[in-house]
Amino acid sequence: MGRVEGKVALVTGATGGIGKATIERLVREGARVFAFARQEGPLRDAVAQYGDAVAIGTGTVTEEADVARAVASCLSAFGRLDILFANAGVEGVVKPLTEITAEELDEVYRVNMRGTFFTLKHGAPPMVEQGKGSIVLNSSVLGLSGMAGLSAYAMSKHAVTGLMRSAALELSPRGVRVNSIHPAAVDNRMMRSIERLAAPDAPNSVKDKFTSMIPLGRYGTNEEIADLVLFLASDESSFCSGSTFTADGAFGAL
Ligand SMILES: NC(=O)c1ccc[n+]([C@@H]2O[C@H](COP(=O)([O-])OP(=O)(O)OC[C@H]3O[C@@H](n4cnc5c(N)ncnc54)[C@H](OP(=O)(O)O)[C@@H]3O)[C@@H](O)[C@H]2O)c1
Repeated sequence: MGRVEGKVALVTGATGGIGKATIERLVREGARVFAFARQEGPLRDAVAQYGDAVAIGTGTVTEEADVARAVASCLSAFGRLDILFANAGVEGVVKPLTEITAEELDEVYRVNMRGTFFTLKHGAPPMVEQGKGSIVLNSSVLGLSGMAGLSAYAMSKHAVTGLMRSAALELSPRGVRVNSIHPAAVDNRMMRSIERLAAPDAPNSVKDKFTSMIPLGRYGTNEEIADLVLFLASDESSFCSGSTFTADGAFGAL
């Protein structure tokens, strides 16, 4: 018996490093998954190995109608929704806050804040109807603390933390648990991008600096974050709601 046997999950950001690793864990542990991302080709490639256990939908989390359609498609494909992983996100720019343009700020806001809000808004009702469900919002260590050069991203991820807390207070009395996860640097595309944006000529020096800020002495892996999501998605975390869960190699203990 798998740890999420018979459950149905909806995962946004399904083509990204953390999204793909989470889908692998959920399917391996007995769930069926509705995978949502922007581009059909990469999405099909990402889930081809899982056959009927995974259905897909394309669109952007920044458009409410796209998210509503994804939830409806999940329900028509699998008949229920037990686990919602609001994971789609962008890093935006790395620069002093005095140099961030309104357009750059809006892009981060639209995906990380609006997109996460719409995902929760449309994913929660079927769970409330069932009287049970687990919602996991992907924030960041920068949803709990700040970092020079990443103010727009940190602001957007703090908003995700606030959304999680408010949603947990609204939805827990109706049987739906809501938690957020807060990874430190994960060894994947997003960190490669942040390293390049911070120092185009010396991205490895940025990686060294970030690594030195993590007492465990390394970046995390997509799979380590997926393991935390799996715990929160499963009934093993049945008394956990309204909490922030870090996976950060002790970054936040400083
Ligand atoms: N990597 C880290 O170090 C780290 C640390 C803490 C938190 N996080 C958070 O973890 C989450 C997943 O990121 P990742 O590390 O797996 O990076 P990633 O590989 O860049 O994945 C990001 C995912 O979000 C999707 N996405 C972006 N904008 C979207 C939109 N408008 N609509 C729908 N999907 C959209 C991307 O799809 P496309 O292929 O369509 O772009 C991709 O699937 C993000 O919320 C990120 O902020 C990451």
